[in-house]
Amino acid sequence: MSKKIFSGVQPTGNLHLGNYLGAIKNFVELSKEIDTNCIFCVVDLHAITIKQDPKELKNNIRETAATFVASGIDPKKNIIFNQSGVPAHAEGAWILSCIARMGWLNRMTQFKEKAGNDKEKASIGLYSYPVLMAADILLYDATHVPVGDDQRQHLELCRDIAQKFNNDFNVKNFLRAPEPLIQKEFSRIMSLKDGSKKMSKSEISDLSRINLTDDKDQIINKIKKAKTDTMPMPSDANELKKRLEAKNLLGIYSSLTNSSLQNSIEVFAGKNFSEFKEKLVELLLSEIDPISKEIKKLLQDKSYLDKILLDGVEKADLIASKKIESIKKILGF
Ligand code: TYM
Repeated sequence: MSKKIFSGVQPTGNLHLGNYLGAIKNFVELSKEIDTNCIFCVVDLHAITIKQDPKELKNNIRETAATFVASGIDPKKNIIFNQSGVPAHAEGAWILSCIARMGWLNRMTQFKEKAGNDKEKASIGLYSYPVLMAADILLYDATHVPVGDDQRQHLELCRDIAQKFNNDFNVKNFLRAPEPLIQKEFSRIMSLKDGSKKMSKSEISDLSRINLTDDKDQIINKIKKAKTDTMPMPSDANELKKRLEAKNLLGIYSSLTNSSLQNSIEVFAGKNFSEFKEKLVELLLSEIDPISKEIKKLLQDKSYLDKILLDGVEKADLIASKKIESIKKILGF
């Protein structure tokens, strides 16, 4: 059976190493598989759940598309498009919001984290955001959704929504419950400044993350300044439970070398962090620097990026508008 892949990334600026290792690197590999159709979405409707500057948003939409291409996704063989270009997403989100239950959404931990202490002031969109995400996926009958670990709960919700819709309207398997594709290890890259916090676009300190547009000097500097501890490199995986920064850096190293955490521990056991950091910098430069340069190059040709998105919108719309019509028929519209 051929696989249908769907995933999305928010165009909110500062795409970082977490987005890359947790998701985009996986997109690239899947996009090269035979018998796999991939759709990668710049989820601009999700971005506006938090206020955006319109000019910056426009740039960030292009930059996210540029990041996909610079990382190795071929826009001719895969669909790359922005969500707001395909009306079925917003329409589907409304319909599915009448299927999803408040109790289900109340359990979403990402809303609690993002809304913080002042939930009364969060937008309704921020609350119902996982329903839009479910619409994204279900409109394309996606079989697999590659994401980082922080999206796991949203994918479970998507499966619940699909099942309830199918049960409520007695349409077995009409909405397809997708399988999450979450890497076993390193699916949650942490901040370079605090190993207990996720690496994030919204963290104020730029030193907490490696941005995919960072240049060589920035990468070197950030790894140099990355938090460690005073002990030598760990020699046993059990030590990592309390040494979160060491665990994160070793995780990044392992992910970049496609090796297991245990293997990386063995390579550096008892050595100084400085020696390890040198190797890590080398790896990061060889993987991220070419992407960073390519993003900057692509951003100079705005019309090329706009064309990729427009072509993608056309192709995506053909699929999504058919599905939404079938959904409406089932509802009795
Ligand atoms: P977003 O834009 O926050 O993140 C994009 C992808 O990057 C992953 N990610 C991480 N992985 C590992 N470590 C980290 N520190 C890290 N930070 C981010 C995310 O898990 C994600 O895979 N709701 C989604 C976008 C979305 C979507 C969809 C995804 C909208 N519709 C449909 C899949 C299918 C989001 O906000 O991702």
